Amino acid sequence: VEARKVALLGAAGGIGQPLALLLKMNKLITELALYDIANVVGVAADISHCNTPVKVAGFTGEAELSSALKGAEVIVIPAGVPRKPGMTRDDLFNVNAGIVKNLVENVGKFCPGAMILIITNPVNSTVPIAAETLKALGVYDPQKVIGVTSLDIVRANTFVAEAKGLDVKDVDVPVIGGHAGVTILPLLSQVTPPVTFTEAEKKVLTEQIQNAGTVVVEAKAGKGSATLSMAYAAARMTESVLLGLNGEPNIYECAFVQSEVVQDVPYFATKILLGPKGVSKIMGTGELDAFEKSGFETMLTELKGSIKKGIDFVKSPP
Ligand code: APR
Repeated sequence: VEARKVALLGAAGGIGQPLALLLKMNKLITELALYDIANVVGVAADISHCNTPVKVAGFTGEAELSSALKGAEVIVIPAGVPRKPGMTRDDLFNVNAGIVKNLVENVGKFCPGAMILIITNPVNSTVPIAAETLKALGVYDPQKVIGVTSLDIVRANTFVAEAKGLDVKDVDVPVIGGHAGVTILPLLSQVTPPVTFTEAEKKVLTEQIQNAGTVVVEAKAGKGSATLSMAYAAARMTESVLLGLNGEPNIYECAFVQSEVVQDVPYFATKILLGPKGVSKIMGTGELDAFEKSGFETMLTELKGSIKKGIDFVKSPP
């Protein structure tokens, strides 16, 4: 097994802490750099006591960011502010856009070529921001930038298993599009194992999946958005990326990446194949049924707008 350093940026946050713990348990990682602007030294000391082989170190403040990044092959970014009730993921744009741009600039400088997994919302905009930032530095590789949408798949798998009385470990629901509201489109016609849904079930399940993040925001009543399930989903994505880097065949995940699958939509989530260089193949959407086609049409305006907002933030700063 190769030595793999992973850097987690925003490691002291609601997502960062449980994600750091899950990565400390990961057998494919040798070194884990935990970076945050606050509170991270204690988190690193705490997690470092778990008796697994992963070497953990904490880095705090901009001055230590380069040390956190040097030698890292995978960078996971949950740094930013979370949603409060009444906010959409897009409302986070103003603060989080600047945070992602700054962090990715440093990634481009100190570990160009690393895989970058973006969790910070709005993912529909922060992924284009990361790509444009790297382009400006001349180090952009579309195979290496991934928007983490795996929580949508995790939720879809859970809800479909519950609705249909299936064993959740067997259920796989592809989810395409983006990572906010109506841009999240579960493909219930392509569920494994094959399941038949009534039109009413399709509508209820699709809305439940699209609205799941907001349900958590409201249940947390001002204390933030999904953290534990997000950390779980991101740990799964990180594991898949590492397996791909190690040359493991047939590692598929749905993720929001630069894509030519949909005309005039330069970033789009579909199933992707992960390999030694990152995203090695984009699988496309497959055949959509009538219900999904209508959901697909509905998302396009919003998704294009969020992508453009991200691109413009870097290309023509406010
Ligand atoms: N560099 C590094 N860390 C930062 C920076 C920065 N420039 N700015 C903020 N942070 C850190 C904060 O110090 C905090 O520890 O990011 C962490 C964010 O944690 P929380 O506020 O608890 O937010 P969390 O629930 O983890 O969500 C973070 O992920 O899913 C998205 O929508 C969510 O965009 C939000 C992000």
